[in-house]
This record gives sequence, structure tokens and C-alpha cells, in this order.
Amino acid sequence: MSIQSLSNVRTQIAGVSVLEIARQFGTPTYVYDAKRIVEQIEKLRAFDVIRFAQKANSNIAVLDLMRQNGVVVDAVSAGEVLRAQAAGYDLSEPHQVVFTADIFDQQALQVVKDHKLHVNVGSPDMISQLGEISPGAEITLRVNPGFGHGHSQKTNTGGEQSKHGIWFEEVEACVALATKNQLTVTGLHMHIGSGTDFEHLSQVCEAMVATARIVGDSLTTISTGGGLPTPYRPDDTTIDLDRYFVVWDAARKTLESEFGHSVTLEIEPGRFLVAESGYLVCEVRAIKEMGNNRFCLVDAGFNNLARPVLYGAYHPMSIAFADGREQADQMDDLIIGGPLCESGDIFTQSEGGYVNSCELPSCSVGDLLIIECAGAYGFVMSSNYNSKPMIAEVLIKDGNAIEVRKRQTLESLFADETIPE
Ligand code: LLP
Repeated sequence: MSIQSLSNVRTQIAGVSVLEIARQFGTPTYVYDAKRIVEQIEKLRAFDVIRFAQKANSNIAVLDLMRQNGVVVDAVSAGEVLRAQAAGYDLSEPHQVVFTADIFDQQALQVVKDHKLHVNVGSPDMISQLGEISPGAEITLRVNPGFGHGHSQKTNTGGEQSKHGIWFEEVEACVALATKNQLTVTGLHMHIGSGTDFEHLSQVCEAMVATARIVGDSLTTISTGGGLPTPYRPDDTTIDLDRYFVVWDAARKTLESEFGHSVTLEIEPGRFLVAESGYLVCEVRAIKEMGNNRFCLVDAGFNNLARPVLYGAYHPMSIAFADGREQADQMDDLIIGGPLCESGDIFTQSEGGYVNSCELPSCSVGDLLIIECAGAYGFVMSSNYNSKPMIAEVLIKDGNAIEVRKRQTLESLFADETIPE
């Protein structure tokens, strides 16, 4: 066995001892490294506007960090709008918070009306509904360019199979519908999928320019959407951001020269900004053999991190030994599972539910397992399935670990329920 493969031992996260984090906050706990988030933001500074798709991680401490670093946000529900406000975003300031969705539910319509929020419209019906409450408003059209791509079919948001956005052939009719409803189309937005690649992301530029010509010179902003990939596996390549910017900047410049005014270029990442900052720290609670397989069961499940069961997503993992050892004695092939009463509760699986094993340091009950690259679509997709409480979230800033969300109490799980008389 090579020295290399005897690694995957992690004693610290952002300079703080993993054992200390578990002792202080318990397990399972999500831990985020603020410095890592800021590093990712810095990589996107070439774009005029960085808009964080907060669905990836909407803890208000994370949103506050975004705000302090000049990042604005996208909101897809009334709840996300209020989170942004709680994190210090000024809702009366245009474009600090943009509402993006394919429908308005009643709560969303109310919050958009109350704060006169800019809306990125994903369905023709939203145009007439907005016209009723906000005549005179400026809007963005979210356009489905007729193609899409994602890390999984479930995260592909373009093409005929997708429910998202306005079909590209409907754009002209939607501009007319906007005018009829006293709305002006000032923005165009295309998000073709999450976890996609350079080639697919760049194809969008051409579609954007063609669609912008249909809208005409009322257009002042174009948004590339999100979708930037995260290197989850050691051999995953990172996206060439300089090249990506150049392609988009050229599209923007073409439009500027045709329209004779400046056009703002926005990018709207979720995963890219937060995925690598996040760690799910859990405790090994059982190790058992099933025929030839060795299962390592931890105290976190798909109620805490749903990406593996939903998409067969891969997450790197490491071990923090309870005795503080910095080196593994030997490696093991382990299937990593959680506590839920459901056989899909496995962190090492591929799409379709096929169970895999992974090579990790031999560990025992009481050691900690760290699921890495878990800062995007981790906590936000968690549930109370099996009556498991929501877990704590901790932000490490300047070497200090701060609890930014308390673990939910067991009693609060059913506090809103009643037994009929
Ligand atoms: N903008 C819009 C309109 C979106 O729908 C999304 C993601 C984003 C931006 C951000 O995409 P990102 O940069 O994070 O790829 N739960 C899945 C991902 C679902 C993405 C939904 N929309 C996962 O865990 O991979």
C-alpha cells in the first residue's frame, strides 16, 4: 500500500481541530470555512455582478459573508427573500435581491409586491400576474435556449424536458405580453444546468446574443446563470474562468455596440462559491460485515446530505481519529451509510442506487468521518425524515469556530402538531 493511500486523515478544518469541533458542537455538524468562500468570490471579480444563488447554502451567516464581499443574491421563494433581508441586504435597493422562479405562489407574490423586487420571470403566466401588482416594473426573462446540460439529468435545466424558463421561441410573444402589461424587459438570463462544463456553458453565449436581438435595446443586463462545476474528485478538472469570461465579455460587447449603450454582465453561481468550503462532520457509530462487504455506519444520513441518494453524487471523505493520530495504520474498503431506516441511506453510491465502497483509513466506533465538498446543496436539502432534528452549522472565520445555527431540539420536531379533541 502506498504512503499516498494511507492519507485521508484530517485533523483540522481551516486551522481548527476536528475533534474540538465535535466536542464543542456535537455531531453531525456542518462546518464552513469562510476564507474558502471568499477565495472563490475573488475568482469571479471580472464579472460586473456576482449574484449568489442562495439555494446552494442560505444560512444567514453565509449570506452576510457574501454581502460583505460585494456579492448580491438571487431568491427563489419568499423565505429566501426574507433570509437575504435578515442577512442585511436592503430590499429597497434595486437588484440587491432578484426573485427568480417559474411560478409565483401567494407568499412570493406578496413579498415581491411589498418590496417592489426585480423579477426574473420563468413563465409567461408570471408576466401577467406581475403586471397586475407592479405595473411599470422592469423585468428579466429567464430563457430556456432549447438545450441544457448538468452533472445529472435531474440538474439539467434546458431543453424540452425541462420545466424551467421561457421557451426561446416564445420570447417575442413574451416581450409583447410584457408591453401589454406595462412591464419592460431589461434583462435576459439563461441557466442551462448545474455542474455543467465549459463547452456547454459557452454554447449559451450564441443563444443569448440571438435572443437579445429579439428583445432589442431596452436590454441592459445579461446573466450567464450558474452551473459552474466543482471538482469533487481529485481528477476532476476545474473550469477555465478566464476563458469563460472572455467568451461572455465578447457577447456582451457585441450587444453593446449594436444597442449603443452599456450592458451589465452578471454571473449567478451557487455551488462554485460554497461547495468546497463545507464539511459534514459525523461520528462512526457501527462497523459491520455483510458477507464480503464492510459497512461503516455514521450518525448522519441522507436527511443531512441528500446528494448521493438523489444523484449518485460523489463526495470525498476523510477520517479524524478519536485519539488524534495523524497517520492511518492501514486502509479499508468501506461502504459508508447513515442511521435511516431505508437501504438508500448510503453515501457511497452511484446514480441508480448502486452501492460502492471507498478506500478510507481503518476506523473504529468513536472516530469521526468527514464528508467533504459538502457546502453546496447540503444543509439546505436536509429534512426531518425519521424524526431526526436539523443539525448544527458552524462557520470558521479567522481561526474561530462560530455556531451559526443551533441543532434543532427533539421537542421542536412535533411542537407545531396537534391531536384533535
Ligand atoms: N441559477 C438558477 C436559476 C438555478 O436554478 C441554479 C440552480 C443556479 C443558478 C445555481 O446553480 P449552480 O451554480 O449551483 O450549479 N441540488 C442539485 C443542484 C440543483 C441546482 C438547482 N438550480 C445538486 O445538489 O447538485
